[in-house]
Amino acid sequence: MPRVNRTAVLSLLIVSSSVFLLFQLYYYRKYVSKQPGPHILNPAGHLSASHVQWQTLKKFLALAQHFKLPLFLADTAALSLLSQDALRQRDWLVREPHCSFLCTGRPITSFALHANLWKYDPGFLLAAEQKGFELLELRGEDPRLASLDTLSGEEIPLHFLLRLHSYIIQVVFLYERSGNYLWHGALRLKANVDRSFAPFKLLDYGRHAGAYDRPELILTVLDGLDVRIPLNLTRFLHQQRHAHFLECRYRDARNFLQLYPDDSSAAAVEFRRKAKSLLHLAAQTLARLEIPFWLSSGTCLGWFRQCSIISYSRDVDIGIFISDFRPDIITAFRDAGLSLKHKFGKVEDSLELSFQSNSVKLDIFFFYEDGDVFWNGGTQAKSGRKFKYIFPRFSLCWAELLELKVRVPCETLDYVTANYGATWSVPVRSWDWKSSPSNVQENGVWPVDEWAELIQVY
Ligand SMILES: *[C@@H]1O[C@H](CO)[C@@H](O)[C@H](O)[C@H]1NC(C)=O
Repeated sequence: MPRVNRTAVLSLLIVSSSVFLLFQLYYYRKYVSKQPGPHILNPAGHLSASHVQWQTLKKFLALAQHFKLPLFLADTAALSLLSQDALRQRDWLVREPHCSFLCTGRPITSFALHANLWKYDPGFLLAAEQKGFELLELRGEDPRLASLDTLSGEEIPLHFLLRLHSYIIQVVFLYERSGNYLWHGALRLKANVDRSFAPFKLLDYGRHAGAYDRPELILTVLDGLDVRIPLNLTRFLHQQRHAHFLECRYRDARNFLQLYPDDSSAAAVEFRRKAKSLLHLAAQTLARLEIPFWLSSGTCLGWFRQCSIISYSRDVDIGIFISDFRPDIITAFRDAGLSLKHKFGKVEDSLELSFQSNSVKLDIFFFYEDGDVFWNGGTQAKSGRKFKYIFPRFSLCWAELLELKVRVPCETLDYVTANYGATWSVPVRSWDWKSSPSNVQENGVWPVDEWAELIQVY
């Protein structure tokens, strides 16, 4: 085809697609946006329902602004609608054009409040009441004051629930914790609280305590209202789904330490200091690789039983799912200043890495899935014998250890009991990893011709 013709065809295409685009825009303005859609598309009554919800939110946001509440929208349904995936599906949804993000079809909207940035002002609640809101303020113990020495007696506000025209606005208080993360408490109803105040089972927040990284926020306009939202919605929604936080059991830990006082010798103190810095280094390194890990073996037992590191354990143990393994993990730890001490097994079977820093060992056990159990492997270097440690399946929760937000198995008691037996609460100083654990099994021997590859000791 001659060159001129091609240009002509291209121009024609551009002109016709522009015309089509303009037509779409015209059509949209004339027939879609101007039409009171809900009358046609929705069952009768929807318009007024979402209008009431919108009015309620507007009233609440005006009050919040007046009392300078450092809020952001934390509602999972609204934020999901806003996130990219949902935008693509938006045409499929039949929604009120004036309230297309905030009116989610749920009778609840949740906001988070950065509690450290707000001086509690009871005037806010009074003003809300004057505007017609019914209120429920839920308080709970302040965990930031809890430690092995003192149990917190002080109660702090954890959640506000505001109700107007049967819409609920939940305000979740997020507190800064010493591990540099945000925390909210579980929502627990005291005996005298009206259980029909809200559809509590539908709330996004409060079933458990939760832990979050501090989200970066942006101010935006949603359905004509000014609200702040997390900048990275995907990240926030992901964190929200995995936020479950477990508080250390300080009461039990205190009882344990009364029976078995902590070793306060200089060597033990020094070990705990080194273990803490090693754990922080491991967490940083793995965070950079986006590899989730959890406290395993003795380190998990230390958190669960005594809210600290077991001073005679001599190492730090963590678990990682083999599906999260990345080959650059060894380089990353080397770059962080750790030396590889041994590498046992292979990605397909019983992989185990051990690093050393300042005479403290970091053991990384890779966990494999097999039906209704998880297991990790062990290898005896001198004999090539293999071992297998079996755990009931578990999910991961957040916890705090040594001023660090770390994961632990949510079913911690089952995990610790599998590993250490029913007497896990009694300290055992002489421990043989090949025979002491309750969940150890013999698992054959590596073929001799593969030892050079599968049993590497440095
Ligand atoms: C948002 O967060 C996700 C998950 O953490 C990340 O993969 C993505 O790169 C982030 N997006 C932006 C634009 O920063």
